[in-house]
Amino acid sequence: MIANLTPSLPPPRPGGGDPTPEQEAAVERMVRRFYERGLADTVLGPTFFEHINEWEPHIALVRDFWLGAIHGGTRYRGNAFAPHMKVDFEPEAFAHWLDCFERSAHECLAPEDAAVAVRVARHMATSFRSGLFPFTDANGRPARKPG
Ligand code: HEM
Repeated sequence: MIANLTPSLPPPRPGGGDPTPEQEAAVERMVRRFYERGLADTVLGPTFFEHINEWEPHIALVRDFWLGAIHGGTRYRGNAFAPHMKVDFEPEAFAHWLDCFERSAHECLAPEDAAVAVRVARHMATSFRSGLFPFTDANGRPARKPG
């Protein structure tokens, strides 16, 4: 078994490796539902619309990220955190993001897969939040820059 060197992700589950076509289809449905919800969301919609220009390659990339997180395997080899450094949004966006994500995961995935996805999403949202907003402004709100 390959060592898990990405501490933000749980180790692949036993049997993880190549996802089945059914697993892949379910995860892709989840990603599409997530972006449908996100684009309709007043906080997330404008950000997604501004930054994501090529939708199909983006959906395939994010599908591969979630396939790895839920079922194991190494199809996604990117750095999920880095692109967010140039995306301008407020810390409140995380609650909207998680709400859209969790509803889509429960709707599209088997319950045990949805539970893994939600656990990873909450963990990564927390670490993205502290990585992107490490400071506190004069009003005590998380901030990207020193106040
Ligand atoms: C407020 C919360 C978030 C917002 C507004 C947001 C927005 C975005 C945007 C606009 C992109 C496209 C960036 C680009 O291509 O230039 C992106 C990429 C991505 N996001 Fe998020 N995101 C959020 C949270 C998260 C979280 C918590 C996760 C993981 C659990 C995540 C996973 C990803 C992945 C895997 C990509 C593709 C990265 C790559 O290019 O390799 N995002 N996000």
